[in-house]
Amino acid sequence: MVELITSREKLVNYLESSQLSRGLVPTMGNLHQGHLTLIKESINENDLTVVTIFVNPKQFGPNEDFDKYPRTLEADLDAIRSIDKALDKNVIVFAPEKIEDIYPEGFSSTISVHGFDQILCAKDRPGHFDGVTTVVYILFNLIKARRAYFGLKDFQQTLIIRKMVKDLMIPIEIKLVEIVRDSNGLALSSRNKYLDLKQKEEALTLTKSIKKLKDSLLKSGIKDTIKMKDDILEDKRFVYLDILDANNLHPLDDRSKEAVIAGAIMIGTTRLIDNTLVSLNVR
Ligand code: PAF
Repeated sequence: MVELITSREKLVNYLESSQLSRGLVPTMGNLHQGHLTLIKESINENDLTVVTIFVNPKQFGPNEDFDKYPRTLEADLDAIRSIDKALDKNVIVFAPEKIEDIYPEGFSSTISVHGFDQILCAKDRPGHFDGVTTVVYILFNLIKARRAYFGLKDFQQTLIIRKMVKDLMIPIEIKLVEIVRDSNGLALSSRNKYLDLKQKEEALTLTKSIKKLKDSLLKSGIKDTIKMKDDILEDKRFVYLDILDANNLHPLDDRSKEAVIAGAIMIGTTRLIDNTLVSLNVR
């Protein structure tokens, strides 16, 4: 059964009376197949899945798309109901109506994870990850799930959340789920909604560039690949494109076992991200 809960009080009452093992899928709504994959995974692994839908103002910059971010609760509920097992298992959708149900009046706390600032998305989105970790911490605290599910498309986010969990010793298992792509290879994102067909085609520049760098890294090694990356960056639509150690987002060195090739691109006014992981064991 899929049940909608729109207040913190009702959620707390529900959770207090339930002994079922919990999986948490935090989202900002406008669910696509990427989200549904996370939800399916949680349904398979837990007796109760809590999907949260909250467009978190703290993770948007002043000139970003908070106001126009798609809010599609009814369609989101239908999408969750369309998952086979959602009807047999217990699924709660927590979509708070009042912002105070996440950030109580006078809220003045921030969770900051250091060490990943000034890199990738942190460079052009100052404060973004503090907004993410603060809301995710609040959700972890509220829902007390055994497991939480995140997509690898937001690779830097997954590293930062895992670091927060380790540093603050939060008793939760973080499960990471592969990027889901459309038939052309474009990584699914709620922001793809802003693109017309031509722009979706244009957005593949990012996916293709990452793929080209991956092939080069495996075939020709890091030096040639960095040169190739710098050439690609001549295209001013790229916000960044980088090849880093996937373990810590440091530059690759001889001890690196896995690389992440991550990029962000502006298509019109829409900022899109993508990445791929490359195992370096074969070097
Ligand atoms: O990945 C997202 O959609 C958001 O950053 C998250 C984790 C739901 C926090 O608002």
